[in-house]
Amino acid sequence: MSDRVLVAGGAGYIGAHACKALARAGFVPVAFDNLATGWEAAVRFGPFVRGDLMDRASIDAALAEWRPVAILHFAARSLVGESMQQPGLYWRENVGGALNLIEAAVAAGVGEFVFSSTCATYGDQDGVLLDEDTAQRPINAYGASKLAIEQMLANFGASHGLRSVIFRYFNVAGADPEGEVGERHEPETHLIPLMLDAVAGKRGPLTVFGSDYGTRDGTCVRDYVHVTDLADAHVRGLRWLRGGKGSRVFCLGSGTGYTVREVIDHARVVTNRAVPVVEGGRRAGDAAALVCGSARARDELGWAPERGLEAMIRDAWAWANRPAY
Ligand code: UFG
Repeated sequence: MSDRVLVAGGAGYIGAHACKALARAGFVPVAFDNLATGWEAAVRFGPFVRGDLMDRASIDAALAEWRPVAILHFAARSLVGESMQQPGLYWRENVGGALNLIEAAVAAGVGEFVFSSTCATYGDQDGVLLDEDTAQRPINAYGASKLAIEQMLANFGASHGLRSVIFRYFNVAGADPEGEVGERHEPETHLIPLMLDAVAGKRGPLTVFGSDYGTRDGTCVRDYVHVTDLADAHVRGLRWLRGGKGSRVFCLGSGTGYTVREVIDHARVVTNRAVPVVEGGRRAGDAAALVCGSARARDELGWAPERGLEAMIRDAWAWANRPAY
């Protein structure tokens, strides 16, 4: 029988795309989700378990029932702005939830763990490519909570032999090119979906958060990576662990940064429509520039993003025009 893997957060945006890739690679992805920010309709590629990382008993029950060979942990609060307003939510749910999951894994004898971390752990380090060796100095509670979990995994690795692959994602965007799953957040706060909603007239103009950064056009620079490419990296990370290799951190991005204005220009071309925009002030917690040095993922996992910013916007646009949930 195919190996089962527990996908915490499998009903969320990135988790659902990962479930698709995992199923395609021959695993049975068991989506474990409390549906706080995920969608049951996004669980299409394996069983669904409704459970909550704050409820240890629900994790233990899922592990006992499904006996997965590994855990992939996507479930988290993940909004930079929200984390500045409600840091307690991030420390309680992200760090507390991860602790429950990791302790449950150790208790159940699951020794392989893939964790979704973030470039938000780096903070503001203008002008440098951020890679696995860059010092982590988060400037928001979201990044701080993810860094704490990275350290937790190192501790549990040393003490209990838990092997982990930690992925530090850059800015994830796009949707499944086959249209089975896509991005849906409520409320939506991310640049590309908000921009496409503005194009479609579903909401007002996009507010550009700050045009006085020390970047080439004054707006923030981010490194965008297609969610399907990211999902593929998780299959590779899982195979890394399944093959017996040791704990490793990988940065996942393209190595190319785009300013907010450049993203808007791409959207104009892809949609062939005007993008309504207004200028606004800076958003608390935003770093000026976050661009990935992705050599390690390429050299050691054989992973390189195949889809560029245009494909991300095109797939997000197709999804926005016929959402399945
Ligand atoms: N932006 C705007 N207007 C908006 C929304 C966003 O100008 O209405 C700008 C932001 O200031 C930022 C860029 O667009 O410069 C991207 O913002 P997003 O909100 O789409 O993404 P973030 O960079 O804030 O955060 C995302 C994920 C995090 C992850 C981070 C890594 O939500 O989980 O990428 O950079 F950690």
